[in-house]
Amino acid sequence: MVQAWFMDTSDADQRKLHQTDPPQFVSPKELLSSTGVESFEITIDDNLTDPFLSKIREERKYSYEDEITCCPEELPNYEQKIKSFYEEHLHTDEEIRLVLEGSGYFDVRDQQDRWIRVAVGKGDLLVLPAGIYHRFTLDEKNFIKAKRYFVGEPVWTPINRPADSEPSRKSYLQKLETGFKA
Ligand code: LAC
Ligand code: NI
Repeated sequence: MVQAWFMDTSDADQRKLHQTDPPQFVSPKELLSSTGVESFEITIDDNLTDPFLSKIREERKYSYEDEITCCPEELPNYEQKIKSFYEEHLHTDEEIRLVLEGSGYFDVRDQQDRWIRVAVGKGDLLVLPAGIYHRFTLDEKNFIKAKRYFVGEPVWTPINRPADSEPSRKSYLQKLETGFKA
């Protein structure tokens, strides 16, 4: 299960925990209701045979998949990519990631515009809704390998904040208002 917490405001290394003192944790249920971010647990084996994964891919029509490894040795333009992943942005589509190995942090804004840090590790499937402001960083272990899924032809373009007039942003805010289903 993913762990999530409200972030402190320190500008220390982005790869650190950034928990408040005492930590203020956010349950998966609270995460869903305050941001629309969904998280699931998947059993990882060589051929990704977890029936729940097949079911969700089929139901949600995740037709595209690839794999990304983020670490200094394997990611082209590593420094630049890591920097751009950590700039607050949104996408016009969902961001769907299944962690195969390693770990990292997805930071998402809640309804009051506070940062919630979501720690992901092996077996975590995270779905960030279209239009949510977010960013990503590696943690201090500097390694993550993940599957990326997409409905149709993938578009990874980040639209940096401010992007409040984006249609995906508007419909995201509307969904938050009426409530993402639990
Ligand atoms: C992405 C993550 C880093 O856009 O948010 O790929
Ligand atoms: Ni993103």
